[in-house]
Amino acid sequence: MNKNIESLLSEKRVFKPAKDFVKKARIKSKAQYDEMYRESIAKPDKFWAREASELLWNKKWTKVLDWSKAPVAKWFVGGQLNVSENCIDRHLDGPRRNKAAIIWEGEPGEKRTITYAQLHDQVCRFANVLKRNKIKKGDRVLIYMPMIPEAAVAMLACARIGAVHSVVFGGFSSESIKDRLHDSKAVAIITADGGYRRGSIVPLKKNVDDALKLSAAEVKRVIVFRRAGNDIHIEEGRDVWWHRELEYVDANCPPVPLDSEHPLFILYTSGSTGKPKGVLHTTGGYLLGAYCTVKYVFDVRDEDVYWCTADIGWVTGHSYVVYGPLANGVTSFMYEGAPNWPDWGRFWQIIEQERVNILYTAPTAIRAFIRAGDQWPLKHDLSSLRLLGSVGEPINPEAWMWYHNIIGGGRCPIVDTWWQTETGAIMITPLPGAIPTIPSSATLPFFGVDAAIVDDSGKEVPPNVGGKLVIRKPWPSMLRTIYGDHARYKQAYWSEIKGVYFAGDGARRDKDGYFWIVGRIDDVLNVAGHRLGTSEVESALVSHPAVAEAAVVGRPDEIKGQGVVAFVTLKTGTKVTPGLREEIRAHVGNVIGPIAKPDDVRFADALPKTRSGKIMRRLLKQIASGEVVTGDTTTLEDLSVIAKLSAPEE
Ligand code: WTA
Repeated sequence: MNKNIESLLSEKRVFKPAKDFVKKARIKSKAQYDEMYRESIAKPDKFWAREASELLWNKKWTKVLDWSKAPVAKWFVGGQLNVSENCIDRHLDGPRRNKAAIIWEGEPGEKRTITYAQLHDQVCRFANVLKRNKIKKGDRVLIYMPMIPEAAVAMLACARIGAVHSVVFGGFSSESIKDRLHDSKAVAIITADGGYRRGSIVPLKKNVDDALKLSAAEVKRVIVFRRAGNDIHIEEGRDVWWHRELEYVDANCPPVPLDSEHPLFILYTSGSTGKPKGVLHTTGGYLLGAYCTVKYVFDVRDEDVYWCTADIGWVTGHSYVVYGPLANGVTSFMYEGAPNWPDWGRFWQIIEQERVNILYTAPTAIRAFIRAGDQWPLKHDLSSLRLLGSVGEPINPEAWMWYHNIIGGGRCPIVDTWWQTETGAIMITPLPGAIPTIPSSATLPFFGVDAAIVDDSGKEVPPNVGGKLVIRKPWPSMLRTIYGDHARYKQAYWSEIKGVYFAGDGARRDKDGYFWIVGRIDDVLNVAGHRLGTSEVESALVSHPAVAEAAVVGRPDEIKGQGVVAFVTLKTGTKVTPGLREEIRAHVGNVIGPIAKPDDVRFADALPKTRSGKIMRRLLKQIASGEVVTGDTTTLEDLSVIAKLSAPEE
């Protein structure tokens, strides 16, 4: 058994919500959660209609859920609403009008506060810029921005006019931008000259230029925000400056009422095969999921400063930096740069200065902070914190305890939230005032989430037996399809086990019904909380002229959760030069982005294959982790390959 799982099975520490937290919490007891959960499963229409009525609808729905064409879900059929109106305009008539919607800090240290009224003004003006540039309802718009308020403004402006945004993480390469442009058939790109990261400037506009050189696809317009002041090229007739465009528009831009199933965004994420897939989310259900989870899971209050550290390039940034908090009228704090810039104290300094109350971050960051040393957080007053969240990968008990003690001062509940790009919103999580937590367990399903652990035949397994994590009922914020490839949607999520959504994760459930997520059991790696398909990295590797064949596996990594190990065979006649390994790593970085760079590239004469030619990943994983190769090798074609691969590096 893997050491990680062993330690989880013996984890017995239980943390009950503290009395003073419970007093103010929305859901105050397990019994109250149980009752609401029961209703959400038995009478989903009633439950979700009540929650949805807290949003602003331009036209009421006629039916809560249409599942007659499963696995295609329609939520709030016939209803109309606008996400930007719900996130902004709705708050303007009351005390939230002049409350901070976004507080931002740039990496070099500048600060900005944008109230709801100001955000309204900016989003309306920029939506008019989009219109002026002939971007229409239904058009796809690629957003490639640093973590600055304008990234949120761009997303909300798209939502206001019914354009479909596709945010691409600023760490992705021009090749990745090109692929996403092609797949989404985007007509415009919103970007910035550059963004700050660890003291240097990321040349965002240049990456966009390079992508457009590879293939301009259908892009007619590039709108550039001036952030870093670095020199850039402006292509006459195609590129325009954001600030110049603003001179031509006014602030009058009524939100367009949109069908509840109107597409809101496409977000690309890695799967176990092929290129990243464009996960499509729609309007009503998605917004409800983001709204409801921020309300119940983060149990937000009007006076909170809430900080989710995710980049808007990931789904966590969509649901928990922008849409969820703003739909709740919360103050969302945004930080542009790296956690260790100029030193490992940056996060803690921000929390002290901004009096942050809720912090939502990833285990990989927590483990990096642990390594950097307790002296950094201990220098700062973190007493404003009242709730902590974790997302993106399993949090090991040691990291959980450190987060609890050193950051939370032993008083803050931790919500370990399990979900995915595809689920749109948090699916399995404690509710902080109601559910006792155990380090490393994501505990119980959120309202309306019918999660179960099943075996390969789809049968639910008994407590503490590992299996596949599935969702058996549709939920409002679920993905609707893979953009442009509906067959892949059905195949990837609904075919493994008939009639249910298979998430790609392995997990077990204990006798109290708590879920313990083990991690991906498909060919998807989770590197520092980022999803990476082994096949994506492999195709990047074989696009290097020296590489004949490649197989990529994950190996446990103390900080990143998983590291990437590439086994590579070279084309005949290629010499292993001292620089080749680094060159291949850099090549993968250029093709996908720095996060995909293999930690280790191992040259091999051959890869272990079955007689039918399939690469035996299980063996490679064991080799990559430094384990002795065990288990069945009878189907292996050439046993000597193993001996060679296991031999120490030249
Ligand atoms: C993993 C991120 C354990 C999981 C929101 C999932 C987690 C993948 C947790 C989705 C958690 C996310 N505990 N594992 N609390 N949260 N994961 O699409 O393997 O970037 O399938 O969405 O992250 O990653 P994605």
